Amino acid sequence: MLRALAGRRVIFVVGKGGVGKSTVATALAVAFAEAGKRVLLGQMESNRRLAGFLDLADAGGGPVEALPNLSVLTIDGESALSEYLGLVLPVRRVQKMVVESKLYHHFVAAAPGLKELMTVGKIWYEEQLVVQGRRKWDAIVVDAPATGHVLQYLRMPGAAAEAFGPGLVRREAQRVMELLVDPVRTAVCPVTTAEEMPVSETTEMYQQLRERLRMPLGVLFVNRVHMAPLTPDAVPAVPEGASALVADALRCAREEAGWAAINRRYLERLREAVPMPTVLLPFLFAEEFGLAEVRALMKNAGRQPAPDPTGASAPC
Ligand SMILES: Nc1ncnc2c1ncn2[C@@H]1O[C@H](COP(=O)(O)OP(=O)(O)OP(=O)(O)O)[C@@H](O)[C@H]1O
Ligand SMILES: [Mg+2]
Repeated sequence: MLRALAGRRVIFVVGKGGVGKSTVATALAVAFAEAGKRVLLGQMESNRRLAGFLDLADAGGGPVEALPNLSVLTIDGESALSEYLGLVLPVRRVQKMVVESKLYHHFVAAAPGLKELMTVGKIWYEEQLVVQGRRKWDAIVVDAPATGHVLQYLRMPGAAAEAFGPGLVRREAQRVMELLVDPVRTAVCPVTTAEEMPVSETTEMYQQLRERLRMPLGVLFVNRVHMAPLTPDAVPAVPEGASALVADALRCAREEAGWAAINRRYLERLREAVPMPTVLLPFLFAEEFGLAEVRALMKNAGRQPAPDPTGASAPC
């Protein structure tokens, strides 16, 4: 599975709210780092979940090293813009004056799309960064915000390149856009669960990414898949006189088989609507989801849910 992403330096992990984007982005970043790559895990908009997985007090400011080979950075447009001003206004006093001025704050708040443009621009900047003659990062994994919002970000460089006349902004926006549509360097990896709403949203997003944004696609992650090898009907009724434990176990088995049947149905729908290399990630029963679970997730990646014993729906 990671082979499908080999060589891609910028991987956007996208999807509906709550499907597991931060979990998958962290799992990918950890897997890359453990394979010896120097990895930046960038979170667009701050998200305490990443910090929680990686035991960080705070991922704000500059990149924070969370594990060997793995640094975490919160990428937000406003700090990216002041960092950029630092590059173009080398006199610190002038830079400070601009950044602290009221006018600047009004401008940042009011300029449509500026923060989005600067956020994606910062990812481009990190991708280009060379330290002591070699690229600083082999891979940048981006934990993106939920669907509608991330599309706004990804559209912005193209919109700015069209809206501005020849000059600095257009040139910068075009360079960022070139990165976004480059199938050698970039991959977008949607995450979904095999349920009704996430599957419809993923289908729409897939079309937007392909047709409007023309972005290169990587791997589709289907998360929290229930793998039970039974249909709910195959779970026997609670026998008379059964202990409470047996009754509970049968009830859980029926529930689990029910989820597995739902997942099978929507996996089939996904396969038709989103023809991408697909990796299934099992539902992991864990009280607290931490680094150990995140690692286990990738180890178990690709396990298939058992075929429907009635043959009603084909296995994925
Ligand atoms: N494979 C899995 N098995 C069980 N629970 C999971 C699995 N993957 C993620 N979770 C749980 O699902 C919840 C949502 O995960 P996560 O925070 O990664 O989603 P998200 O898409 O980043 O959400 P948001 O849109 O709010 O940023 C978390 O509580 C996480 O622990
Ligand atoms: Mg998240």
